[in-house]
Amino acid sequence: MKQLDELNKIKKIDRQGMLETEENFYHQLVEAKKIADSADLSKIAGKNYTGIAFLGMGGSGFVGDLIKSLIMDDSDIPIETVKGYSLPGYIDKDWLVVPVSYSGNTEETISCLKQAKERGATLLFVASGGLLEEMAEEYEACMVKVPAGHQPRGAIGFLFLPTLLALRDTGLAKVNSSDIDSALGQIKELSEKFNRGVETDKNFAKQIAMAIGNSLPVVYGSGGYLSAIAYRWKCEINENGKTPCFWAEFPELNHNETVGWERLAETTRKLTLLILRDEDENIRMKTRIDTTVGLVKTNFSKVIEIPVKGKSKLAKALSAMYTGDIASVYLALLHGVDPTPVEKIEKLKAELAKLD
Ligand code: F6R
Repeated sequence: MKQLDELNKIKKIDRQGMLETEENFYHQLVEAKKIADSADLSKIAGKNYTGIAFLGMGGSGFVGDLIKSLIMDDSDIPIETVKGYSLPGYIDKDWLVVPVSYSGNTEETISCLKQAKERGATLLFVASGGLLEEMAEEYEACMVKVPAGHQPRGAIGFLFLPTLLALRDTGLAKVNSSDIDSALGQIKELSEKFNRGVETDKNFAKQIAMAIGNSLPVVYGSGGYLSAIAYRWKCEINENGKTPCFWAEFPELNHNETVGWERLAETTRKLTLLILRDEDENIRMKTRIDTTVGLVKTNFSKVIEIPVKGKSKLAKALSAMYTGDIASVYLALLHGVDPTPVEKIEKLKAELAKLD
C-alpha cells in the first residue's frame, strides 16, 4: 500500500483538516455562489469606473490575480493588482477599489485601502471580519462578508467567486452562467477523483505529490490565466507543502530562464519541472513549450506536463488551481507535515504588530 493511501496515518498528520477543506471545495463554491446572490451591491452599482484595483496579499491577493487574468481580455478599463503598502498615483476617485483580506487585518491591504478612501474611490470590501469589516461599517461601504474559520488560502472559493460575481452584477465583468455551472460541475468531478479514498494509482493529485517527492518543484504557466495558476501552485506548495518552489511563465521564460538551466547540473537535476498546458493552446505556444521541454529536460530530475481541460476559461482555471491545491496538501502529508500551520507568516505579522 502506498503511503498516501494509509488513511489513518494521513488523518493523524492533518490535524486541522486541510485535506477535508480541499475535498469540500465544490461545496465551498456552492455556498460562495449563495453569498454572491445575497450581496447588496447598491453602493457600487451604476457608476462609470475608469479602472478596477484589487488590494490584497498572499492567498487573498491571489483573488485579484485570478480575476484579472480571467476578465482583462474583455475589459474596457484597466485592472490592477496592488500588493504592498502604496497605492499607485493614477488610482483616483473614479476607480473601484477592492480590498480583499480573509482575516481583515493585513496591514499592507489596510494601508492602500486608507489611501483609496482619501482619494474618494468607491470601495468593495471582501473579508471574513477583522478591521476591514469595521472599516466597511465606518465608511458605510459595500462589503462581501465570507465565513470565517479557514486558512485564507483554503477559503479561495469564498473569496474569489462572490467577488467575480459582484463585478459581473455591476457590469464590470462578463461571466456566463453556463461557465459557472460547468466550472462547478468539473470541480465536483475532480473532488471525487482526488478524494483520499481513491488510491494513488488512480489519483492524479496523489501522483503529482509522489512525483515531486523530495525534489524541488518549478512550475511553468503559459501566459494569461495559466500564469496566475502557476503562481498559485508555487504559493500552495510553499504554504501547504512547506517546500521551496519557483515559477515562471511562457513566453517570457524563453528569453532568459531557458538559458539559465545550463550550469549547476548537480543542483538542477534535483528539480522537477511541472508545466501547466491548456489543451487548446495554439500552435505557436505548443511549439514553444515542446521545443523548450526538448532543450531543458536533461537538466531536470523529471518533467511533468499537467493537462488543463474545461469547457471555459473559468472551468480550466479553477480545475488547474484545484489540482495544484490538493496536490500540495498531499505533498505535505507524504512527508508527514501538517499542511495547515503557517508559523513563519504568523511570527512575522506578530513582530510587525508590535510596532503599532
Ligand atoms: C495563509 C495565507 C496567507 C494570507 C496572507 C494575507 O493561509 O494564505 O498567504 O492570505 O498572509 O492574509 P489575509 O488573507 O488574512 O489578508
